[in-house]
Order: sequence, then structure tokens, then C-alpha cells
Amino acid sequence: MRNIILVGFMGTGKSAVGRILAKRLKRPFVDLDQRIAREAHQTIPQIFASEGEAGFRKRELEAVAWASGLKEHVIAAGGGALLEGANAKLLRGSGFLVCLTARPDVIFQRTTATLPSRPLLNPGNPRQRIAQLMQLRAASYAQADVTIDTSDKSIEEVVGEIIKKVNG
Ligand code: S3P
Repeated sequence: MRNIILVGFMGTGKSAVGRILAKRLKRPFVDLDQRIAREAHQTIPQIFASEGEAGFRKRELEAVAWASGLKEHVIAAGGGALLEGANAKLLRGSGFLVCLTARPDVIFQRTTATLPSRPLLNPGNPRQRIAQLMQLRAASYAQADVTIDTSDKSIEEVVGEIIKKVNG
């Protein structure tokens, strides 16, 4: 069985859904942002502050290369993990790509409390940044095998849908 890899914009539920999905399927769960932070001995905002976005993306590429060697895992990738062509190729080759999406207003609500830990949404106007980045990234996210809108669904509902799609 291939990996199941969750991709998609910040605040669409990748980590929360991934954790429950892995439990339901009795597979190990890996969160790539957590791995990047652990390897760097820094939080994600600290990496952005000290190495810039380019430094973070380099670390993300290494994490993706590592994750693409895993088997039968559930993997939650960061919201930008598909942007780089090399990353997208590695991820597509190593598993079933599920893109989680949500309406921009829902993403805004879900990310408000965690804005300080989201360097791409601050400083500045987070509503505008969300709309702008979602538009810029639409083509990258469209590379996924399936897309699920999580706006009006519980985590359990999303998990159920993914299991159906993986088996279908
Ligand atoms: C990013 C999303 C974040 C994290 C980093 C960059 C992005 O992950 O990787 O801040 O480019 O969308 P989440 O999508 O898990 O919040």
C-alpha cells in the first residue's frame, strides 16, 4: 500500500486529519513541519527568521526526499510542499496525494489563533495574503489525486471520505 500524503493550504486540517486517519488505518503518522523543526532545532517561524523562506524550502525539500522513501505511512506535508517541481514529483511518486481545501473565510477563522506561528500570513493583511496565495498555488494543488473541501466537515467526516477515496 502506498503512502497517503495530505497536501493543501494552511488551515485546511492536514495535521489534525492526518493524525486521526493514521490511527484509523493503523499506520504511522508523520508531520513534515514537525520533522523540519526537529531537525533544525528551531520552530518554523525561527527558521523563516534566521534562514528566510529559501532556507525553509531547502529544509522542506530534504524532508520530502526523506518522506518519499517511507512505505504505508500517512504524511502531512506543509502548505507549500507541492510548489517546487522536484518536491511535487517526489511526493506524487511515493503516494496517493489528497489535497485538503477550504473557503478563504474559513481558513482565515481557523488560522487567526495561530497567526504568530505562520510567517507567510504575517506581518500584513492575513485575509489578503490567504486569497493571494491560494490563487497563486491553485495549479500546484491541482496535481493531487483527489481534493476534499473541509470547510463544513468534521475531522471524522473528512477521514471517512479519504478512506473511501483511497479504497475506491
Ligand atoms: C507553509 C505552510 C506551513 C509551513 C510553513 C510554510 C506554506 O505548514 O510549512 O509555514 O508555504 O503554506 P502548514 O500548512 O502545515 O500550516
